[in-house]
Amino acid sequence: MGKLVDRHNERNELYSLSQTGKPEMALLYGRRRVGKTFLLGNIWQNPFYFLAADTTSETNRKDLLDELRQWSNKELIPEDYPTWRSVFRLMSQTQIQNANGESPVFILDEFQYLLGQKDDIVSQLTAIWDRELNDSSMLLVLCGSEVATMESLQAADSPIFGRLSWSSRLRPFDYYDSSRMLPWLSLRELVYFYGALGGLPRYLSAVKQGENLRESLSRILLSTRGEVHVQLQNIVSGEKGIRNSAEYDAVLRAIASGQRQLGGISSTAGLQGKTHTARRALEVLENLDLICRERNYGATPKAPWRYRIADNSLRFWHRFIEPNRSRLERNLIGNVWEKSILPSLNIYTGLIFEDVARQALLRFNNNMNLPVIATCNRWEGTDKNRRSIEIDIVGRFDSGEMFSGEVKWSSSPVDPDIHFHLKRNLTDLAASGKSWANHALSGKFIYFSAGGFSEYMKKYAKDNSSITLVSLKDMFPDL
Ligand SMILES: Nc1ncnc2c1ncn2[C@@H]1O[C@H](COP(=O)(O)OP(=O)(O)OP(=O)(O)O)[C@@H](O)[C@H]1O
Ligand SMILES: [Mg+2]
Repeated sequence: MGKLVDRHNERNELYSLSQTGKPEMALLYGRRRVGKTFLLGNIWQNPFYFLAADTTSETNRKDLLDELRQWSNKELIPEDYPTWRSVFRLMSQTQIQNANGESPVFILDEFQYLLGQKDDIVSQLTAIWDRELNDSSMLLVLCGSEVATMESLQAADSPIFGRLSWSSRLRPFDYYDSSRMLPWLSLRELVYFYGALGGLPRYLSAVKQGENLRESLSRILLSTRGEVHVQLQNIVSGEKGIRNSAEYDAVLRAIASGQRQLGGISSTAGLQGKTHTARRALEVLENLDLICRERNYGATPKAPWRYRIADNSLRFWHRFIEPNRSRLERNLIGNVWEKSILPSLNIYTGLIFEDVARQALLRFNNNMNLPVIATCNRWEGTDKNRRSIEIDIVGRFDSGEMFSGEVKWSSSPVDPDIHFHLKRNLTDLAASGKSWANHALSGKFIYFSAGGFSEYMKKYAKDNSSITLVSLKDMFPDL
């Protein structure tokens, strides 16, 4: 198996649960391809592992017993274990010799497939757990990719509630951990890759060592047979919790086409008069980390949310793959790359780079000699003269002090104009009644530039302690 990137807290915590000498139950879940099975395969020497299938309870139980027989090297007759209760009893009695005083570890993967059947596996599990475990030690890990279902297991009305000693939801990697999957690339290339593939480990692991952006994306994403292409095609319909996938797909498309508020999204998705359906779809898509929502810095709690696609691979899909489908079907990959992708790639990646900058700020504030970040947003709107203004970064440190800043993807060095421009925007907003803009003017200024900074800018920042300059290199420490 490859090297484990990130997930070290999860790994250490799960490992120590297998060393308590007591019965422990843990829950690990997260969307498909996020790296659950890989993590669980990287912790213990010899755990029992069962991958449940979307089939009947009986079939799953027989398969599990078969795995258990091979793993424990003991003869057992499946007919002797006709219920889940008897299977869990058998597990608790199966003590095998482990190194370092580890308890036996039992992993039930895709656990959601065992739920919702008439024999109610959860009650049978809790019955054994409460009454029969006595002195036996074991670690039972319930793992699953149907997020809402797995989450409901830890709700107060679930029989498992109160018996779980640990639970965690795995999220996709941020730009930095994504980049650690592709360590041979230059920093600029890493940002392009993050913009196209996002943070799902499975997609990133499809890139071959030594491939450049064009080769790699052509093979895995542009080709209709490509690994990532095939998975993105089914991203909505592949989620088991989603029934009416056409409506969800329409909502995603509406957002991808630039609709950002509920009203516009509903009507573009053909859901006029069915706002509740649109709202429900937004909720579910957000819970799957496919979309996210944001508000301006300083917006009132009643201000409408703005939605956008959260998963970069999906953004790239809707921006570049979907509109070129008929050409890609005919295998005109080079043509799509030259004519459609390359000319817009830097504009596209510029927006991605803004997200990267915000993530870098939250993760590496220490390296940048900045205090802990309390909130970090952006702001867009108009001033009182209807001039439109966008500020890439606005937020507060935990001390209460404000910061604001700009993010530039261009490869040319940035000079102090960026600072004068931002100050002018803030001054106009302050004059338009945005009192936070006044605070921002006396706060810190943070500038991110992929093309570095001019000598003049460096000197200017040196003489001005409120200015922090962040280069591409600073955003990728130790890489
Ligand atoms: N932390 C990690 N470090 C390095 N590579 C990883 C990591 N997590 C996942 N991967 C890579 O991503 C692939 C997919 O991960 P995995 O199969 O564990 O996902 P999953 O969450 O179990 O998905 P599914 O729900 O589809 O079963 C792995 O085979 C591995 O190559
Ligand atoms: Mg898995």
